[in-house]
Amino acid sequence: MTADEPSDDAADGSTPVRPDGGTTEDAAGADEVALDPWGSSTVSDYRKLFSEFGIEAFDEVLSEVPNPHYLMRRGVIFGHRDYRPVAEAMREGEDAAVLSGFMPTGDPHIGHKLVFDEIIWHQERGADAYGLIADLEAHSARGLSWDEIDEHARNYLLSLLALGFDPEEGELYRQSTNRAVQDLAFELGIEANFSELGSIYGFDGETDVSHMQSVVTQMADILYPQLDGPKPTVIPVGPDQDPHVRLARDLAERMRMFGVTEAYASFEATEDELAVVADAYDAREAYADDPDQPRCVEAAEWLRGEGGARPDVPDEDVALEAVAEKLENAGMEPLRPRTRFVDRRADDEAFEALIEAIDGEKRVFEGHVDAFDVDPAEAAELARSVEVEAGGYGFLAPSSIYHRFMTGLTGGKMSSSVPASHISLLDDPDEGYEKVKSATTGGRETAEKQRELGGKADECPVYELYAYLLAGDDDEFATLVYEECVGGERLCGNCKEQAAELMREFLADHQEKRAEVEELLEAAEIELESPRRG
Ligand code: TRP
Ligand code: SF4
Repeated sequence: MTADEPSDDAADGSTPVRPDGGTTEDAAGADEVALDPWGSSTVSDYRKLFSEFGIEAFDEVLSEVPNPHYLMRRGVIFGHRDYRPVAEAMREGEDAAVLSGFMPTGDPHIGHKLVFDEIIWHQERGADAYGLIADLEAHSARGLSWDEIDEHARNYLLSLLALGFDPEEGELYRQSTNRAVQDLAFELGIEANFSELGSIYGFDGETDVSHMQSVVTQMADILYPQLDGPKPTVIPVGPDQDPHVRLARDLAERMRMFGVTEAYASFEATEDELAVVADAYDAREAYADDPDQPRCVEAAEWLRGEGGARPDVPDEDVALEAVAEKLENAGMEPLRPRTRFVDRRADDEAFEALIEAIDGEKRVFEGHVDAFDVDPAEAAELARSVEVEAGGYGFLAPSSIYHRFMTGLTGGKMSSSVPASHISLLDDPDEGYEKVKSATTGGRETAEKQRELGGKADECPVYELYAYLLAGDDDEFATLVYEECVGGERLCGNCKEQAAELMREFLADHQEKRAEVEELLEAAEIELESPRRG
């Protein structure tokens, strides 16, 4: 449906809700999805993030996660990239890491609590945990002074500790003082160029150099947990940070000494070309004199349609002729599946070590080695271990999980600059109580209607408070609130009163804990006052 077609709105004029909380209005494509790390943090339709950006639905990995967090169970954590290796490492008790960063631009609020909880949950399950203060980013991209940054940083850290982060097991740092991060950022910067950052982030000739530097710094943050060895690492963030995650995953790959691909003949080929060769190999019965030994030149003829056209490749496929030529040049060489190790950034010594490490039949070429007896699944691990042995990073592509943004208490987006829209973790408990009491709801105009039609829990910021925070681990309670609301048994006045009370208790309790962890913070290694100027 298009934006101007009449919609099948509910009788009360509201927009019908999809089971996942998206609305048909969003599905109409009213606004474009764009993920901007420095823009406003709203997403109109989470499902578009799956189709347009390739974020995967969290539901699909949920069953692989041991005792999933309530934010996972309730779909607040809705998406991920490549979370499986992290889930697996936690199941198997193997090394894993979790890292997220916070720009100290204001008070930590209940939205940040989601990320604090995610870090802590992974830490409790054995992951190396990192919480970082993105002070360079706050200074360069948001223009905060170092004094302001220090003050806010302290508040973030206290809340993170109060919620249960263990600073002895985990690591807290600020970007500005982490030399290893800076050094890694510099190396990563060699693999990324200006046009690439321009197309990812919309940077142009006016963009500050330091802002760009903060991007490579974040890339280094994300890979930092792997400096002492490759390990599955999850970055819990809002979906606005996905461009950073994608770039970090690319850079992790570009830093690798060796690439591993499948191949069928000795010549070098791009990924697209390899796919064509693979098809030609699969079709060998159709053209080879001896299908046990299809010859390159036979495959070339077949590809060019001389012995029977390849129906599934469109004429304009550029890879086709390039591949045909390569196959033709290879002449009578048989097509034979193999695992190829490509030398990307290795020095001679590392390349030699790789050759040495490959068991069974192998052929060594200028920039690659072909192995005939190595299982493709094991090849990646072999390449990684040789790389690490040779002093390389051997990075695994970092994983991510994404949480939904909370709706503002006043409707619209939750924004740090609109105090009534959010609840700061530093709000006086009574003030928190009041904010909840004055929140907008998904309720009907009258109590009578509410009893008849039920409330709209899916559109209610108060219900969100229950699901995201107030119900804690208690799924039964969260479900009860939901059912009672949509069933018309729960009216907004009492519901808000209950939520407001719980919020007051939460804030009082949290602030008490903040006071208790002051000493823990003083003892932690992180620098609390920056000597920097400006
Ligand atoms: N850019 C993030 C933000 O705006 C902060 C950040 C810096 C970060 N480094 C990170 C987040 C590494 C996750 C991982 O909040
Ligand atoms: Fe929201 Fe509660 Fe009202 Fe339902 S009853 S709409 S959950 S405030």
